[in-house]
Amino acid sequence: MNLMSRVTRLGCALAFCCLALVLWGVPGTRALNNGLAMTPTMGWLHWERFMCNVNCQEEPDSCISEKLFLQMADLMVSDGWKDAGYQYLCIDDCWMAPQRDSKGRLQADSNRFPNGIRHLADFVHSKGLKLGIYADAGNKTCAGYPGSYGYYDIDAKTFADWGVDLLKFDGCYCDSVKHLADGYKQMSLALNRTGRSIVYSCEWPLYAWPFVKPNYTEIRQYCNHWRNSADIYDSWQSVRSILDWTSSNQESVVPAAGPGGWNDPDMLVIGNFGLSQDQQVTQMALWAIMAAPLFMSNDLRHISPEAKGLLQNKDVIAINQDPLGKQGYRLRKNDNFEVWERPLSNLAWAVAVVNLQDIGGPRYYTIPIASLGKGLACNPACLITQLLPVKTKLGFYEWTKSLKTQINPTGTVLLRLESASKIASKSSL
Ligand code: GAL
Repeated sequence: MNLMSRVTRLGCALAFCCLALVLWGVPGTRALNNGLAMTPTMGWLHWERFMCNVNCQEEPDSCISEKLFLQMADLMVSDGWKDAGYQYLCIDDCWMAPQRDSKGRLQADSNRFPNGIRHLADFVHSKGLKLGIYADAGNKTCAGYPGSYGYYDIDAKTFADWGVDLLKFDGCYCDSVKHLADGYKQMSLALNRTGRSIVYSCEWPLYAWPFVKPNYTEIRQYCNHWRNSADIYDSWQSVRSILDWTSSNQESVVPAAGPGGWNDPDMLVIGNFGLSQDQQVTQMALWAIMAAPLFMSNDLRHISPEAKGLLQNKDVIAINQDPLGKQGYRLRKNDNFEVWERPLSNLAWAVAVVNLQDIGGPRYYTIPIASLGKGLACNPACLITQLLPVKTKLGFYEWTKSLKTQINPTGTVLLRLESASKIASKSSL
């Protein structure tokens, strides 16, 4: 084989690799090809706030029932949540009847969901929303209701027949890691076979980690998003532990994220009881940086204007939904501060500075501009806007300068950096 053909062949091979990298994203693995979750999914999920409350006798307004979801659906539209991007209204565990029906199909608890799930789906769709539901790869759900082991095709078909748009698939009561993996793969394929577009939200890596290091290349091919770490609770300690887990494992998880497949750090607990205003700002800012699915779990009937304003903040949601689809990461940690950054489209960057100290007052932190965005974010200069806790135009910063900012204890300052060259090219148009 002469050199020329070797050179041209090499040239072609290189061109093909570049194309592959562009087409299939940095991880080089194709996502679940159902065309869904091109940006992180947004919606409302009942678990953290309402858990498995099935006592409708004594608590008719907060038990897991058709009534709860009809009320949330109304508010998602009337109070601007849908317009802000929160489109999926999701049922978690504890919706089922204790037994399958005579044909082996899952069925909703007839007292709490007297008209069934199809009826609820029709109502939700009439509001321009989408309906999510929950099941489990094992013999039982985590709360002990019928599991889908051995029923993957029946359950997928049932969900499609009901008009379900998202399935949260849990991993309790699996006999082995193999059972776990097979269950997640089989349900993914079963959903595809229904021909209905159903977002597939997995917990596969969460259950695998104690036994094997999850293969995110494989998980990404079967799931649209996946939980890695423990359940979130309505507390600062819980939010911190999820941030620590993510930053400690960012080498493995960050490359796996991209259009069609996302790491899921669990629900937003903003609007509940456990987080201070500053800690709520930290969760919203970091969930945006982490390109996390945004599933609120709160009571939309009773939510403070501050929490609503934060959850509907268009600038922060724009970072979460950025079309470049890159997950951010922790850049540095020092003196009880953490700096996280996320590359955005149009050479822009998002930067979050977190003051982890939960003693004393607000503290100052100075960021050398050249250290951001791999030295590219502000080269030669950039326009910096503070988005949280309050929106403030901070102005143009040259590459050689530093930015000094003040952050409340357990609070976060979220910044957006627009490259000066991009701004100049836009204004010369
Ligand atoms: C857990 C899951 C929670 C919730 C719960 C329901 O395993 O991580 O998000 O779904 O089960 O029982």
